Amino acid sequence: MSIIILGIETSCDETSVAVMRDGKLLSNIISSQVIHQQYGGVVPELASRAHQKMIIPIVNEAVKKAGIRQEEISSVAAAVGPGLMGSLLVGVNFGKAFAYGLEVPFIPVNHMEAHIYSNFIEEPVPQFPFLNLTVSGGHTQLILIRDDFDYEVIGETRDDAAGEAFDKVAKMLNLPYPGGPQIDLHAKKGNPLAIQFAKPYLNDDDFDFSFSGIKTSVLYYLRDHQLRSDTGKTFISEELLNDLCASFQRVVVQTLVSKTISTAKKFNIKEIAVAGGVSANSDLRFSMQSAAEQDNLKLFIPKLEYCTDNGAMIAEAGYRKFQKQLFGSLTETASANLSL
Ligand code: KG4
Ligand code: ZN
Repeated sequence: MSIIILGIETSCDETSVAVMRDGKLLSNIISSQVIHQQYGGVVPELASRAHQKMIIPIVNEAVKKAGIRQEEISSVAAAVGPGLMGSLLVGVNFGKAFAYGLEVPFIPVNHMEAHIYSNFIEEPVPQFPFLNLTVSGGHTQLILIRDDFDYEVIGETRDDAAGEAFDKVAKMLNLPYPGGPQIDLHAKKGNPLAIQFAKPYLNDDDFDFSFSGIKTSVLYYLRDHQLRSDTGKTFISEELLNDLCASFQRVVVQTLVSKTISTAKKFNIKEIAVAGGVSANSDLRFSMQSAAEQDNLKLFIPKLEYCTDNGAMIAEAGYRKFQKQLFGSLTETASANLSL
């Protein structure tokens, strides 16, 4: 009999639901909330309200697109954390109620664990052990993956996450939220060597990152060149905007690439994977690939639609948990600060 998993993702501002049959993705519907753009960032209260509106229509659409009947679902998996509490609660409560109604098990999935599994949605997949760099809006982690659900976080950011730095710098430059894709676009038209931002201090003895310094350097650059008003408005030419984006992005990408490659070498790991929203960054994808080739490392980066938050990665992690009978109970709760 087929194993059909319904995967639900509502941890931040994407309502996404996927259906997977025996490890093959049948549908992955993503509804991104645009309401936050006018506020320059995610407003938690608005996010949870939007999830409440969208969850049932998105589930129905995913089931319909998959061409299955609800009664065929073997298990419902949902992201239980980390994330925004009000947002998580919508997916977790709906998921548990749906599982209860269908009389199937509920599978709790850690959102960061699901990002790791985004590289398993389609072939080819990494072989254990591998090193995973997760770069999202809330996290920057280097994780040693020994086997399914057997991981060790060996490095993380000491301050801002990589995606957070992208979003904050974009906001300083009057670019809309989410800022990462905007910086990526402008950087393509700019000179990455135009402005020399200092690379964050990289200690060879640990595997941690720091991105708040580079963010502050961009702010100081704007202030020192009288490009920013007291009210926080930035006035710059399109050319300088492009150069600033390219120069900032280059430092962040180089930091991520060099730390990941040196960590893989230290642990004598031959395969590396990148996941999370920032793995959609064109420079990171290109630079990590070149560096990996140079050091004979095999690199895995998900397709663009599996980089940012999506239900497919929840369904993939859920499918693997189902096979290992790693079920949760119906008293399972959401946890905003859940760690790996
Ligand atoms: O994984 P994700 O969708 O949500 C979290 O779990 O946080 O990641 C969102 C982050 C945001 O900070 C967004 O600006 C960043 O990923 N991002 C990018 C790009 N696309 C999304 N950052 C840089 N370049 C991109 N192309
Ligand atoms: Zn995420």
